[in-house]
Amino acid sequence: MPACKISPSLLAADFANMASESKKVLDGGADWLHLDIMDGHFVPNLTFGPPVVKSLAKHTDGFLDCHLMVTDPSAYVGPLSDAGAHMFTFHVEAVKDEKELRAVCAEARAAGMKVGVALKPGTSAEAVFPLCDDAAAKPDMVLVMTVEPGFGGQKFQPEMMRKVATLRRRYPELDIQVDGGLGPGTIESAAESGANVIVAGSAVFGAPDPSAVIQALRRAVEERGA
Ligand code: DX5
Ligand code: ZN
Repeated sequence: MPACKISPSLLAADFANMASESKKVLDGGADWLHLDIMDGHFVPNLTFGPPVVKSLAKHTDGFLDCHLMVTDPSAYVGPLSDAGAHMFTFHVEAVKDEKELRAVCAEARAAGMKVGVALKPGTSAEAVFPLCDDAAAKPDMVLVMTVEPGFGGQKFQPEMMRKVATLRRRYPELDIQVDGGLGPGTIESAAESGANVIVAGSAVFGAPDPSAVIQALRRAVEERGA
């Protein structure tokens, strides 16, 4: 299994202090910063876009793990790469077919970013098999949503663990990210199923000691997997 990465979601941070909130979790042992970009169309919530990512990038050298919940991911490739994003994860539900899925992956990669593809709870793991089976097109990461995208603080959906396990069995080397409702109470089943990239918003930023939560999440993943 690939290395564990803990990616705290800034959605649960104080948006007016993104730089210091980012520093707090990176100093506390986080590997990545998870940035939830929502356009108010793909999901019924609106957060921030490339200009804010660009501002944040000037204040941190952390790995910017961007999760795009937008209806037109292709339109964000150029602006996000210019902004300094490192990972471009978009939803398979936002593209109309396999051809467009591959085209957006290729555009993001050509723009110098790593590429992730995300699955809403209602979308099966099989939706990314053709892409992941193709060595030339393979994404760097698959994101299995463990809540409906759009809002932080929702309840973890344990049924999604079957999807994670299916992907882990088929792709032992793939980064598999889980996002939504992760925390000390739910990390065991995610780790056991084979997830190695853990997003956590409220569990990290809502804790009196975020670094203790980050360490606990990492310990659980490292004990089960890698
Ligand atoms: C939800 C976002 C998540 C969210 C997770 O659409 O993709 O990244 O911040 O928040 P928690 O960890 O609070 O469920
Ligand atoms: Zn997210």
